[in-house]
Amino acid sequence: MKSGNYFDNQTILITGASSGIGLNLAIELSNLGAKLILCGRNQERLDKVKRMCVNHSELIVGDLLEVSTQVKIRESVSRNQISLAILNAGTNDYMDADQFNADRTNNLMIQNYFSMTHCIEAVLPALLKSKGQLALMSSLAAYGGMPRSAAYCASKSAIRALSQSLDLELRGKGVAVTCICPGFVKTPLTDVNTFQMPFLISPDKASSYIISGLRKKYHEIHFPKRFSLGMKLFMSLPSGVIYKVFSKLGMM
Ligand SMILES: NC(=O)c1ccc[n+]([C@@H]2O[C@H](COP(=O)([O-])OP(=O)(O)OC[C@H]3O[C@@H](n4cnc5c(N)ncnc54)[C@H](OP(=O)(O)O)[C@@H]3O)[C@@H](O)[C@H]2O)c1
Repeated sequence: MKSGNYFDNQTILITGASSGIGLNLAIELSNLGAKLILCGRNQERLDKVKRMCVNHSELIVGDLLEVSTQVKIRESVSRNQISLAILNAGTNDYMDADQFNADRTNNLMIQNYFSMTHCIEAVLPALLKSKGQLALMSSLAAYGGMPRSAAYCASKSAIRALSQSLDLELRGKGVAVTCICPGFVKTPLTDVNTFQMPFLISPDKASSYIISGLRKKYHEIHFPKRFSLGMKLFMSLPSGVIYKVFSKLGMM
């Protein structure tokens, strides 16, 4: 199959499609010929995304944590015989460690991780049938602890570990599981950040990294490479060195 038409006529589910990376992926994958099932909570913004997509797209409006949304996803992916599910929805909540709040920490785990596990359960039977692909949105924050991001790092590390475990078993059953680990991408999620974000990239650029990695069914898609490889190396250094660098950068 030519790489140009790899996604032609595939049916792809994208969660968190009403904004940022998910919105951009929807437009790009539609341009490549994919039919889409787009999920998000905000009907107005999802309608706009649908109008921007050149190919057929179906909308599922609702919170991923609600059983009714999970049921709609399960029914839609089986009816539409999806070949790829990109579980991208997520959020962030920065918190100073001396203001540690268990409810906020647990809530981010619910928003990012538990919403994803429910989605995986909903889409997996269809993907096993189609021998498709499951892509889980993690982050470079999964590579280790970062200042003010304990809750976010924990939720994204959990997703990365989940993805690696599932991939070990499911690849042999025909379903490739891919973990997506972006660095900083300019979206409404990061627009609120007041610190300087190293190697910040556009959602367009992020989509092209993700689409290229999905085509190759990589175990992990991480980008931008200079940042992601640097982070992998940096996070493997002794914790005293990591502490000194974060302190020097004024991040704590
Ligand atoms: N931007 C970055 O630098 C960056 C870096 C690494 C990883 N990521 C990850 O990439 C993903 C997308 O982030 P983004 O930057 O594109 O953020 P964004 O613009 O804020 O988009 C987040 C999307 O997730 C949806 N969403 C969140 N919680 C949901 C829930 N409970 N139920 C249904 N939909 C939900 C939102 O839907 P509504 O708006 O309709 O509510 C929205 O479509 C997130 O998982 C994020 O952690 C982002």
